[in-house]
This record gives sequence, C-alpha cells and structure tokens, in this order.
Amino acid sequence: MAFVDKYGPWALITGASAGIGAEFAHQLAVRGLNVALVARRGERLEALAEDIELKHDVRTLAIVADLTAADFLDTITAALDTRHVGLLVNNAGSGFTGAFLDHDLDAELNMLALNCRAPLILAHHFGRRMRDHRRGGIIMLASIAGIVPTPLFAHYSATKAWNRFLGEGLHEELARDGVDVVSLCPGLTRSEFFEHANVDPSGWPAPLRATIMTPKHVVKAGLKGLGKHSQVVPGLSYRMLMRASRLAPGSLPPWIVDRVMRFALPRTH
Ligand SMILES: NC(=O)c1ccc[n+]([C@@H]2O[C@H](COP(=O)([O-])OP(=O)(O)OC[C@H]3O[C@@H](n4cnc5c(N)ncnc54)[C@H](OP(=O)(O)O)[C@@H]3O)[C@@H](O)[C@H]2O)c1
Repeated sequence: MAFVDKYGPWALITGASAGIGAEFAHQLAVRGLNVALVARRGERLEALAEDIELKHDVRTLAIVADLTAADFLDTITAALDTRHVGLLVNNAGSGFTGAFLDHDLDAELNMLALNCRAPLILAHHFGRRMRDHRRGGIIMLASIAGIVPTPLFAHYSATKAWNRFLGEGLHEELARDGVDVVSLCPGLTRSEFFEHANVDPSGWPAPLRATIMTPKHVVKAGLKGLGKHSQVVPGLSYRMLMRASRLAPGSLPPWIVDRVMRFALPRTH
C-alpha cells in the first residue's frame, strides 16, 4: 500500500515548531501527507505551514496547544474538525539534566504530563480511530536514554523508557488491527532540546561531539522503520552502543553513563 494510503490523509505531529518535529512535518509532506502541526508557539507553526505549502502539494493546519493543559485534546479535536489522522507522531517532549533531588517537583510533574500523559491520551484517542479504519501508524519518540538508565537525567530517562515500552507493546498489539507502531530512540540530536536540557556540547571531546545527529537523519530512520520494526535506534554508533549495553551486567551501563554525565555536565557537578 502506498504511504499516503496507509497513513494519510493527515499526520498529526506534536512539537512541530522546532527540531525533530519540524523535520517530521517536512518529510511527511514530501511523502504526500497533509500535516497538522501542534505546539505552543503559533507564529513558528504558521511559518512552517506556509513554507511546507509553498514547497509541497499538501494542506497544513497549525494548532496552538499546550500539551500539559488538562483539556489539550479538546483543543486538538476541535481544530481538526472532520480531518482524519492516519499517522500520529508523538514527538513533543522535554527534559532537564541535573541532580534529581535539587529539581523542583512541579517541573518534574510538568515533564511527566508532557512526555507521558499527552502521548498516552493521543495514542488512545487516535489509535481507536485508526483501529476503526484498520490502518494507520503511531510513532513514539523515546530515546537511547530510554534504553540505558541515565543518572543526572534520571526522570527524563524514565519517561523515555515509558514511551519505548508503550510503543513496543502496542507494536505487537495493534498489528492485528492494521496499525503500525514504532518507538524511535535517537541519541544526541542537534535541536533546541540541548538548551532546555542545560547541555552544552561545545566543550566536549571531538569523538563525543561527532555522535550528535541531525533531525533529518533521525526522522529518515524513523520513517524507514515504521511498519517494519518495533524499535529504531538511528545511527550505527548508537546501535553498537545499545548492543554492548545489553551484553553488559545490569549495573554497569548506568555506572558508565553516570561518569560520562558528570564529565559532560561540569556546571551541575
Ligand atoms: N534532541 C535530542 O538529543 C533528543 C534525543 C532523544 C530523544 N529526543 C526526543 O525527541 C523529541 C523532540 O525533541 P527535539 O530534540 O526536537 O526538541 P526541541 O527542539 O526542544 O523541540 C521540542 C518541541 O516540543 C514542543 N513542546 C514543548 N513543550 C510543549 C508543550 N507544553 N506543549 C506543546 N508542545 C510543547 C516545542 O514547541 P513549543 O515550545 O513551541 O511548544 C517543540 O516544538 C522529544 O520527545 C525528545 O525527548 C530528543
């Protein structure tokens, strides 16, 4: 089945105003899907929508919504009206590094709402409609931090493990309904995420900086894996790292990551 027949006519992309989400919007438009773009910064969404409509023969819809708001689904469904979403990209997410006990609990709860509550509600709502149509796709943005527990990023890492598990479980469960689900697990990817996470790679050694990927690479890998795999880890170096971590005794990978994080985040430790 052609991509647009399987996953069209509309893709809903959360966190489309920047980074990986904006790149998803571009690459899905290239594949012929209309794109509904969700984020808080409306002017960014409007500019992206205009750019996409200029370059591709698709329609766009900008939906300004805060995904941590209790009623965000109402905002999205009202804006979509009768448009059918055949592909959900649960991409919006945020995280901040540093000592867990020094963080403000409200900020952690806000991250939990954005990274877990919102994708859960969206997957449930749009998954039901995809099941009714016996076709569709859901992409869950996890992370390699959702594969290896990450000290000094512990709660974020846990939220990404949650997304990875939900995606991989649903991959098997929804296959019978004709719905493809994949957990996309990028490593370091250049975007606004670094700034929010309080990460500054400029002082890192060149081999570590060389592992930083582009959103283009990540999205291409994710779309290639949709309908084929339950989990995608973009980049050969990250795939090798993940394989090695699976072979190591359970406590070793977090121990190593703890040392790397303390080195990479000198301002927090
Ligand atoms: N970059 C990395 O190294 C990396 C690695 C692994 C996984 N990831 C995952 O990839 C996903 C995308 O990250 P990115 O790197 O593209 O980050 P980014 O450049 O910081 O983009 C985050 C997006 O989420 C949106 N967002 C944040 N809070 C929101 C809220 N309350 N309501 C609605 N939208 C909100 C932002 O838009 P507004 O501010 O306009 O709302 C923005 O569009 C995240 O789930 C992240 O965990 C990133």
